[in-house]
Parts: sequence; C-alpha cells; structure tokens
Amino acid sequence: MATDSRAWGGRFQEATAAVVEAMNASVGFDKALALEDIAGSVAHSRMLAAQHLMCGKEQAQIEAGLVAIAADIRAGRFTWSVAREDVHMNVEGALADRIGRVAGKLHTGRSRNDQVALDIRLWLRRELTELGGELQTLVTTLVGLAREHAEVAMPGYTHLQRAQPITLGHHLMAYVAMFLRDLDRLVDARRRASVLPLGSGALAASPLPLDRDRVARELELPEITFNSLDGVSDRDAALETLSLASIIMVHVSRLAEELVLWASQEFGFIELSDGFCTGSSLMPQKKNPDIPELLRGKAGRVFGSLQSLLTTMKGLPLAYNKDMQEDKEPVFDAMATVRQAVGILPDLLGAMTVKKERMRAALKDGFLLATDLADYLVDTGMPFREAHHVVGRVVAYCLGAGKRLEDLDHAELHAIDAAFGPDSLDVIDADRSIGRRALPGGPAPEAVRRSADFAEMQVEVLAGRLASGGPSAIERALHAGEPLPAPQTK
Ligand code: ARG
Repeated sequence: MATDSRAWGGRFQEATAAVVEAMNASVGFDKALALEDIAGSVAHSRMLAAQHLMCGKEQAQIEAGLVAIAADIRAGRFTWSVAREDVHMNVEGALADRIGRVAGKLHTGRSRNDQVALDIRLWLRRELTELGGELQTLVTTLVGLAREHAEVAMPGYTHLQRAQPITLGHHLMAYVAMFLRDLDRLVDARRRASVLPLGSGALAASPLPLDRDRVARELELPEITFNSLDGVSDRDAALETLSLASIIMVHVSRLAEELVLWASQEFGFIELSDGFCTGSSLMPQKKNPDIPELLRGKAGRVFGSLQSLLTTMKGLPLAYNKDMQEDKEPVFDAMATVRQAVGILPDLLGAMTVKKERMRAALKDGFLLATDLADYLVDTGMPFREAHHVVGRVVAYCLGAGKRLEDLDHAELHAIDAAFGPDSLDVIDADRSIGRRALPGGPAPEAVRRSADFAEMQVEVLAGRLASGGPSAIERALHAGEPLPAPQTK
C-alpha cells in the first residue's frame, strides 16, 4: 500500500468511509491557514538544507513549488481536495503533484501536530497585527471627537438616571480608555503567540539534528517552545485572542447600546446618518439604528466562540487530540466579527450628528446640581453627611412646589437651612459645575483635553510596539505575491 494517496495510508487496508472523510476533513475551513502553512514549510525546508537533511537543489525545488502553490491559492485557482483532509496535506499533496517524489522530504522531522500549532500562531500574529491597526484608528477617531465635543455639556448617568453634568468629550474619552486597554492587551497577547513549536514533532520532538532557533529566526519568532508536549497541545494563544476579542466586544456593545439609546426619540442626543440606518417595511416613519444594534448583537457570537474553545480544551489529556481541530472555526469567526465591528465604528461615529441643545436641555430636569449645592454647604464647614440631608430636603421642597433647582430664590433656600448664603444660587449652574471638575480624569473641558493629550501619547507608544513583532518577511512576501527574502545566513 505504499502508493496509498492518504499520507498515513501505509498501515491501512480498507478505504475511508465517505461519512468519516466528511467529518474528519478540516480543509473546508483550515485552508484559511494556507499561506502561513507555506511560510512554515519554507522556513523548515531552509533549515533542513542548512542541516544537510536535504540538499540545496532539493530545497530549491521544494521552495519554488511552494511559491507556485501560494500563487495558485492567492489567485483562487487552487483545487482543494476533501480526500486530502486538511490544509497541510492539500499543500503537500499539490507539491508532490508538481515536483514528484522529492516533495516527500519536506515533512522530515515534522508532524502535522507541530505544523498546525505553528500555523495557528502565525495566523494569530498576523490577524492581531491587523486588528491592532484597526483599534488604533478607532482610538484616534474617538480622541478627535472627544476634543471636538470637549465643551458640550450633557447629563452623566448612573442606573440610567440623570446624575451629574459632564461633557460629551468626557463620555467619549471613557471609550478611549477601554479601547486603549484592549490595544495594550492585544500587543501582549501577540507576543505570547509568537513562539515556535516546530521541532516538537508529534509529541516527543525528533532525534534529527533540527535547528529550531534557525527556523524561529526565519519566521521572526522571538522564542521557541521549551517542551514538546506543550508545544503541540497548547492553544492558549487562541484562547487569549478569543478572550481579548470578547472584552473588545463588551466595549463595542456598550458603546453601541448608548448610540441606540441616544438616537431614540426619548433621548434625541444624536442623529445617525441615513447611510448607517434602515427603514421598516411596514412603518413608513421608521429610521432604525440597525448597525449599532448588530454591533451589540454580535458580541454574543464572540463570547460563544470563547466558550466553545474553552470547553474543547478543558480536560484534554496531553498531548495532541483530534478535538483540537475544533479550535479553528471559533477563532476565525470571532476574529472576522471583531474586526468588522472595530472597522465600522470610526465611520459610524464620524457620521453621527450631535444635538447639543437636546443634551443641554436634558440637564434642566433631574436635579443634577444637587451635589453641587451640597458641596457649597461643605465649603461653609458643614459635614458632608449633614449637607446631603439638607439638600435632600431642598429637593423634596422642589418636588412639592413643582420647581427645579434653578427656579429657587435665596429666601427659599435660606428658609430650609440658614447656612445657604446669598451666593448659594451661583452654584446652580451646569457649566460652572463641569468647569470645576478639572482633576485629572475629570469632565471639565481642560481636563478632557489633557486626557486626550495623554491618550494620544499612549496610542503612539502602543503603535510603536505594534509596528515591530508582526508577520515575518516570508509571510508578508507570500501574502503580497512578492519574491521571498533570502534565507538566513546562520
Ligand atoms: N487538521 C488537524 C488539526 O487541525 C491537523 C493535525 C492533525 N494531526 C493528527 N495527528 N491527525 O488539528
């Protein structure tokens, strides 16, 4: 049976049942790893030649064949075969179709177990790098909007009840803080993903004189795994990616929910542009915020992907188990979803109209300056707890009299508590209240601008970290269809 077309066919006498082939095959989805798989094979073959495990001529044939296969894949003219099971055997099979027997030397000292462990890490490194760039754009857009709206007064909320006056700039900067943490997490996670598992073999490494560091250098991976069992069975980088994608979607969904609320007639704080909304097939007047709603809804599938892979990995004995083939679809789906979400937000935010008058009008009702009135009493020397109580009585008085704080005169305040001096009415002023909250991290326009300056510095630092540590020159060339860089000289 030496001519069996299945890579592992040697010990088998019977054909694989069709239903088994259908369930076993992963090529339908893992073909997304093809160019990373080829990059790994190029690096591996270069090392095999340097270690005299194949000759230079054989390596050149293999590399040229792999480059030609990459071109076919990029052009969409590669024929994927379910019988060849997965991306690894599709590429190797196509190589054998092209260059014949010598293709069989490529898999020297390698197993699909360490091969797939490498491919997924390379894929994650590339996708995380792209997502990092998209997060950077989102943060920059939000900082720009925060500066633009640094002076726009609006109610801040707790329990979705009007609480204290803030600025829209301040509110937007809260999301800047979230997405900056996400970018920081992403850069960290990408570093941990950038480890070479090749050389782990199926589970017990290899007796051959493989030069693992050389392969790592070719692929610009700063580290190699130090345990072959862990090398083939670790999917932490995928789990971390799904975790950080989930946290990003928590942030996206909170922002999306606020846009939905703000665009409602009840709030009327913003108007979304027509291009981001749709109508109703029944109610002619409707303009629905579908995109923010979808952003909110898509969080669910990303969390589901994280749960899916956690459950797949839980309790698996060492080392490789076929269960782990189930790692890919959740990762691919989550990454596509989070990139789409983060990618669309800058345009969505840029195209909304802020209705400043509505935001300001919302400051009028709800006694948002009650705390400021209490702070006034504290300034006169009254303990805060007492001041809180006194202002509670002021609010009760207003509710009874059908008045707002702004409608009170000094005599009314003074009648409630003698500590209210003639200047006590001055504090019932939203702009004054906001302007005085200028501590670092506060809502005052100048504090928002300082936070924006700080965030811009942070983005620059993170962008610097993101710029190095991305895909290797070999991977970039394979994706761009450019000539591969020369092999490492040592
Ligand atoms: N398609 C497999 C996966 O994604 C590749 C590794 C297969 N290894 C094995 N021993 N069958 O997990």
